[in-house]
Amino acid sequence: MAKILTLHGVNLNMFGKRDPKTYGTATLAQIDSQLDALGKELGVEVECYQTNIEGEMCSRIHRAFEEKVDAIVINAGAWTHYSYAIRDALAILTAPIVEVHMSHVHAREEFRHKSVFAEIAKGQISGFGVESYLLGLRAAVAAIKAGK
Ligand code: DQA
Repeated sequence: MAKILTLHGVNLNMFGKRDPKTYGTATLAQIDSQLDALGKELGVEVECYQTNIEGEMCSRIHRAFEEKVDAIVINAGAWTHYSYAIRDALAILTAPIVEVHMSHVHAREEFRHKSVFAEIAKGQISGFGVESYLLGLRAAVAAIKAGK
């Protein structure tokens, strides 16, 4: 069974409490359980991981390389906009990478318009709340099936 790793970055453990107008009221645990349920429906294994520590995120990505995960769905939070360390870690992988955001980053402050992962991601889904993650998981499964 294909394995998809969902990575949640800095501050995303605060979903549900943090700025509900922008991010809604679903908690990270609720998002993860929706991903798990959709993974079952699509016949893939989904593992979710969150950290607020940049180096830990890099180490988890290194482990994903060793484990040969089939795809990555990542919401790196603010790291998206500036972390070359996480970008370089992701670039080690050959598996497809789908970038997701709950909010519509291109309709927000200018610093959120830039993603340092853009060149290495298959694509980005932003602005659909929890649905961004679910669409991201579907996109990851499609990329695995397409063999890219
Ligand atoms: C976010 C958007 C980022 O700009 C922000 O720093 C986050 C969350 C989103 O899911 O909309 O922490 O990635």
